[in-house]
Amino acid sequence: MSINKEQIKTALAHVLHPTEKQDLISLDMIQDILVQDKYMSFTLEMPEQNDPLAVDLKEKATSAIHRFIDKDAVVDIQVGINISKRKKAPEQAQQAPTQNQVLPGVKNIIAVASGKGGVGKSTVAVNLAAALARTGAKVGLMDTDVYGPSIPTMFDLFERPNITTQKKLIPLEKYGIKMVSMGFLVDVNQAMVWRGPMATSAIKQFMTDVEWGELDYMVLDLPPGTGDIQLTIVQTVPLSGAVIVSTPQTVALDDVRKGVAMFNKVKVPVLGVIENMAYFVPPDMPDKKYHIFGEGGATRLAEELAVPVLGEIPLEQPIRESGDNGKPIVIADEHSNAATAFIEASNNMVQQLTLRGKDAKPKVEIKFRS
Ligand SMILES: Nc1ncnc2c1ncn2[C@@H]1O[C@H](COP(=O)(O)OP(=O)(O)O)[C@@H](O)[C@H]1O
Ligand SMILES: [Mg+2]
Repeated sequence: MSINKEQIKTALAHVLHPTEKQDLISLDMIQDILVQDKYMSFTLEMPEQNDPLAVDLKEKATSAIHRFIDKDAVVDIQVGINISKRKKAPEQAQQAPTQNQVLPGVKNIIAVASGKGGVGKSTVAVNLAAALARTGAKVGLMDTDVYGPSIPTMFDLFERPNITTQKKLIPLEKYGIKMVSMGFLVDVNQAMVWRGPMATSAIKQFMTDVEWGELDYMVLDLPPGTGDIQLTIVQTVPLSGAVIVSTPQTVALDDVRKGVAMFNKVKVPVLGVIENMAYFVPPDMPDKKYHIFGEGGATRLAEELAVPVLGEIPLEQPIRESGDNGKPIVIADEHSNAATAFIEASNNMVQQLTLRGKDAKPKVEIKFRS
């Protein structure tokens, strides 16, 4: 028998908070429920870090699941911190805002995803953002990879953002792109220890507590992979569409399948696949083209999955160097082959967004609380 979310909520409604005298569901303390067969995970949101009640509530929640649903259920409970629970009484809790309230001034939100790390997802995200900004569009870049933020390095930005009098973070801006990254706020090494629920609440804050203003496009650099964290993010952000980055190898292509499946699940349109490191042209032999990681894999897969290939990006030393030097290749050398490939991919992406028109609007119900 597979377990569903409603059963979990019903079971957890039997767990009383010792001081509030209400149950965990009425207090809205349970978030991000994920369940598959007998395996489930959710976040228990506490008002304080290291809240002494957390251990006790976790035990009680687990017992309730075992008692009311299945004694063999495997329960993984993460403890998250939700500061807003400190002052607000639950009955005053605000209603979930609609999509427009989440990021009211942003017209299109595009997630850049990959099945695994190191395929060049961040490189693609920053160059897409740069290519969009080049057209005069107002562009934002949100680095949701709180574990391995690479935006600070790729833009050579290591400042701390300012805060408005309304306690909103002002994004850093370079080359006409407004950016927020966990790397601006904490030491990049510190970012490695973030736990799932903390990471997702940080991303929620990137949306609500940042002064983004009016934007034509917001590009999201997602953490690599298609696990719970990515799923939570793509359910949290009102996405217009997703771009999946892959290298041509078979193993990477398997991950593209998972990526497409994840976005299908949450009804976010996949705008297409960008094949990175698709080929190599030796600088001293411009007539030669080597397909180091294989040829045509992404194209075949895109056909199989009925998603377009938006672009093929060459494997090139200048791409790596410009990333390391803090100036994306599209800005550093806009007439280079690499920049041309990124600009073409960006144009194709915009075309897909336009083609999909209304379809590209998020169909997911945004379960989002401030
Ligand atoms: N097309 C490319 N040619 C050369 N180097 C690349 C290319 N794409 C990415 N890289 C380099 O590969 C490394 C990993 O890329 P990155 O964008 O950080 O990957 P991810 O975000 O998927 O982990 C970086 O050093 C980057 O500069
Ligand atoms: Mg990255």
